Amino acid sequence: MQHIEQLSELRTIRQEWASAGETVAFVPTMGNLHEGHLRLVDHAHQLADRVVVSIFVNPMQFSANEDLDKYPRTLAADCEALRARGADLIFTPTASMIYPNGLEQQTYVEVPGIGDILCGASRPGHFRGVATIVCKLFNMVQPEYAVFGKKDYQQLMVIRLMTQDLSLPVEIHGVETERAADGLALSSRNGYLSAGERSQATQIYQVMQWIAQGLKAGSEPSALEHEGQRMLAEAGFTPDYLSIRRQADLQIPETSDQALVILVAAYLGKTRLIDNLEVSRAP
Ligand code: PAF
Repeated sequence: MQHIEQLSELRTIRQEWASAGETVAFVPTMGNLHEGHLRLVDHAHQLADRVVVSIFVNPMQFSANEDLDKYPRTLAADCEALRARGADLIFTPTASMIYPNGLEQQTYVEVPGIGDILCGASRPGHFRGVATIVCKLFNMVQPEYAVFGKKDYQQLMVIRLMTQDLSLPVEIHGVETERAADGLALSSRNGYLSAGERSQATQIYQVMQWIAQGLKAGSEPSALEHEGQRMLAEAGFTPDYLSIRRQADLQIPETSDQALVILVAAYLGKTRLIDNLEVSRAP
């Protein structure tokens, strides 16, 4: 496994692989890797000859009051885990290499509509930062495939739309969320939780499962959303949103929509957790 920081080295290696007819699957990350990320690496191995993982805590997707500075950085452990999982190359650029003129002067990519609702409404500018860095990284790594977790459901949709709208020659793959035994979705931010909060956190999955059953039984989405928020608040969360949307475009479902997704963002103390669950309801 090679570990590089410079774009020039990345371009040389990428060119060598292309000359040898080798394809690349890419897993962009912000590090602090857990089993969920490593499953993305496993999936990438199934797609292509070479697997590239980037680790870059992207300042453009954090607003001033968010956790950029305290975001966990665990490079040595990450490299070890990626080596064990057979990644071919780790790319860890610096912020000054990615944004040499600073964030204010940076050309950006914005995906309208989908980027402005749900997490986009609560975190203005977040998806602009995500779309911009992913677009830049695609241009650097030039992968045939890129792999993302479905835990960041809206992010995956933003990236799919950006790739389509900008005609980027990359096939996007979404991989199912990896969960702890009690149902909590694996996330780098789980590390912020106290022991008490960690045991409360499992309620998100339980509430989503309760809502999924309700949808299958024909209950009204708005009543389930209301009750779900009440249950989360009772379990000690400050819900940001709990919303039932249609999978196709994350808009409010019509009565005829069957493929739905329950999306949750909620604070436990200062930690903002997100999760989602896809549900098919009967026609
Ligand atoms: O999901 C993440 O870790 C980040 O948003 C991503 C896709 C690596 C872009 O910085």
